[in-house]
Amino acid sequence: MNTNKRHDLGIAIVGSGKIGELRAQMAANHPAVNFIACADADPGRAKAVADKTGAQFHSANNLDVIAHPDVDAVIVSSSEHAHIEPVLEALRLGKPVLCEKPIGLNLADADTVLDAIAKYNGNVRYGYSRRFKHRYLTVKEQVAQGKLGQITGGHARAYNLRSQAAKAQERSAGLSPVVYSLTYYIDLMCWFMENNPVVEVVARGHGLGKPGAGGKVAHDLTWAMLTLADGAVMDVGIYYALPEKYPSRGLSSRLELVGTDGVIVIDGDNTDQVMYSEKGVPHVHLPNQDAKLVFLGSSTPGAWAVGDFWGPLADETRAWLDFLSTGRPCALANAQDARNNLEISLAIDRSAYTRQTVRLPIEK
Ligand SMILES: NC(=O)c1ccc[n+]([C@@H]2O[C@H](COP(=O)([O-])OP(=O)(O)OC[C@H]3O[C@@H](n4cnc5c(N)ncnc54)[C@H](O)[C@@H]3O)[C@@H](O)[C@H]2O)c1
Repeated sequence: MNTNKRHDLGIAIVGSGKIGELRAQMAANHPAVNFIACADADPGRAKAVADKTGAQFHSANNLDVIAHPDVDAVIVSSSEHAHIEPVLEALRLGKPVLCEKPIGLNLADADTVLDAIAKYNGNVRYGYSRRFKHRYLTVKEQVAQGKLGQITGGHARAYNLRSQAAKAQERSAGLSPVVYSLTYYIDLMCWFMENNPVVEVVARGHGLGKPGAGGKVAHDLTWAMLTLADGAVMDVGIYYALPEKYPSRGLSSRLELVGTDGVIVIDGDNTDQVMYSEKGVPHVHLPNQDAKLVFLGSSTPGAWAVGDFWGPLADETRAWLDFLSTGRPCALANAQDARNNLEISLAIDRSAYTRQTVRLPIEK
């Protein structure tokens, strides 16, 4: 039994938006946490989340909360373009970090994080919350037990509403659905196929959405074929333009792995839990997006029930806090995983836009 459990953890939340608020609530309810500080570029958001969670301190200045003497560890839940700086500040101060994906928007920034981790002997984990969806934890376990034999290929695809992509692109201009969201499934595939890196990418895309960074229309649909070092072939795809009233409240997906001794097929379209209500059901992320017919269980981070938040984001946050307070290992992605996921995501976008084969590693 571990007798060195901590009950005095102080946690800073940088970025008190939708996900930051959920992480803050998880932290506030964890038995090892006795201090919360919230920051957001919008001071009203920092105060609102502090009030809601009973946080002891809030600020519009990230460094005020990261450097606060009662803060031991930092959660970075700011917009995608604003992850690097608070992570580097926490590393400089010797504080462990849980940061949302992606690690950054380019590989040069990702490498500054890896360099700082090496320099300060730091610990940064990334919120690839799909790992904590129980059905994918089960896949990881069965693959680790060798039930599929040698894995020769696989397939993973996810669909979501166009308004979800629009919201992400509003806060981080030009963010592609590949870097924002397909990255979860790239992470899963690489996690299942440990020590077998992706070496080549061929992708195609199609876009009708608004122009993003550089005036390019972000692809609504991107389909990619990945070749791994041992010759295994995966295809991964994302489509972010489902009609607004489609009943899913988050990612609809399918994941398959085939091997010499077995096959796993995971239906993640959430059509097994259907509710219709004349009263409407609100969307977790999108205000004014009520629908009458919904697939319950389709919200990507999870959902509230009987006073608690349940689902992948809750289990992931709890696993990280348990890791901090007891030293118990946790399955969260590390910075090298996050960098690999970003590199594959960028290679997919590059191949889709140039219509060329892209070999990894890619130049920065
Ligand atoms: N794990 C999951 O299930 C999941 C789901 C959705 C989003 N995410 C990720 O979580 C992060 C936040 O997404 P969200 O949906 O909460 O977005 P959001 O827009 O609701 O929140 C982002 C917040 O960051 C703040 N912000 C922006 N720049 C900042 C800066 N420089 N310093 C401090 N605060 C800053 C904004 O004011 C906003 O309040 C993103 O990286 C996103 O990809 C994860």
